[in-house]
Amino acid sequence: MSTALIILAAGKGTRMNSDQPKVLHEIGFAPMLVHAMKAGGALGPAHTVVVAGHGADAVEKAAKAYDPDVQITLQSEQLGTGHAVAQARDALSDFAGDAIVLYGDTPFISAETLAAMSAARLTHDIVVLGFDATDPGRYGRLILQDDQLDRIVEFKDTTDQERAVTLCNSGVIAANSNVLFDLIDAVENDNAAGEYYLTDIVGIARDRGLSATVVRCPEAETLGINSRAELARAEALFQAKARAQATEDGVTLVAPDTVFFAHDTVIGRDTIVEPNVVFGPGVTVESGTTIRAFSHLEGCHVSRGGVIGPYARLRPGAELSEGVKVGNFVEIKNATVQEGAKVNHLSYIGDADVGARANIGAGTITCNYDGVFKHKTTIGPDAFIGSNTMLVAPVTLGAEAMTASGSVITRDVPAGDLAIGRARQENKSGLAVKLFDKLRALKAKGK
Ligand code: UD1
Ligand code: MG
Repeated sequence: MSTALIILAAGKGTRMNSDQPKVLHEIGFAPMLVHAMKAGGALGPAHTVVVAGHGADAVEKAAKAYDPDVQITLQSEQLGTGHAVAQARDALSDFAGDAIVLYGDTPFISAETLAAMSAARLTHDIVVLGFDATDPGRYGRLILQDDQLDRIVEFKDTTDQERAVTLCNSGVIAANSNVLFDLIDAVENDNAAGEYYLTDIVGIARDRGLSATVVRCPEAETLGINSRAELARAEALFQAKARAQATEDGVTLVAPDTVFFAHDTVIGRDTIVEPNVVFGPGVTVESGTTIRAFSHLEGCHVSRGGVIGPYARLRPGAELSEGVKVGNFVEIKNATVQEGAKVNHLSYIGDADVGARANIGAGTITCNYDGVFKHKTTIGPDAFIGSNTMLVAPVTLGAEAMTASGSVITRDVPAGDLAIGRARQENKSGLAVKLFDKLRALKAKGK
């Protein structure tokens, strides 16, 4: 059965107290909306429709950055969840399969839960995802009758008896898409909130003789985010899961609670991650690598057997081949570093290609930016760059080239040559002692 996702993301999220729409606040370096899209992605949807409203342009940009095929539809006034789903009708006009409604602010729905909902759809017209709430609070209540879900009652509209029910509505609903839109047409807003409730479709469906059921999931999966405090709790949950997964995948985390992952971090087995390491988005680390303490990685690829850090910073476009060493206080950006090359101390390598086995001396800087343009530095295999060399790009150094320490290299260096680009040293005989004598005499006079 082909599936369409409808992700509701029009709300402002007032309690976030933010200029940004709520669904763009990040967990594991990805907007919570992307987590919802990823979760729904487990169903291999034929369509993903995001209903945007507050900050729609930014929401569209973030959604398309993750999935260029996503369809965005605008809900300019937030008249309720039913009204929001109705906005997806045009986007799905040619679609006849199942629609699943997800919320952009509910990032942790698992693939298993969605699969269970799809399975339940084989026997029921409407499937609602519910959970047994430890504190039912203001959630909608799922009212069962015999073996059917009879209706959903919103908190504001509950009787005392209904309020005592602890089986709550997560918000996730599945139905055939044509059936869903038909039912929504019948939804009215004569309720305590004056909103078009998506939840009303269950009662309407039952009145029409359709069947409805509940699939239950753990409460943690339906966790919705409404405030910064809830966002922080969600981040903690995400990190706990990511750490457990990495450990299970054969990665040693020396101090798991101090390592932070992104939603898309990939780490091979037998890699060791020392304390206080941050993986930003887009990082792949192959097997048998050591990421030493206090390193920060994003948008980079570290091949087998590398040793990174301590205190290394790998920025987007850092592409490290096998057995590369990157030491303390080294920053690498948009640069390939070929097999066995070493950049061990206090360097900046940006917009560069470092050849195999090259040795980059302490304090080497690729001067890649002239204030307007970025330029490239190319260093050949087996080159030896003396400490504190400034490589003023664009510049190319051939294989086995060498630079003298402290050089400012502004011209290409042919293979096998030694480049010296610094003032020649002069020694003034006895001048140091004379200078000291003069200065000490001045001090004695109180000057
Ligand atoms: C909703 C459910 C409630 C459920 C709860 C779970 C309804 C009527 N109620 O209540 O049964 O227990 O979620 O968290 O569905 N949205 C729009 N446009 C709108 C209104 C909402 O896009 O016009 C989006 C919001 O941005 C949010 C989601 O839909 O992502 C849910 O809306 P919200 O107002 O939080 O619904 P609740 O009152 O929490
Ligand atoms: Mg809510």
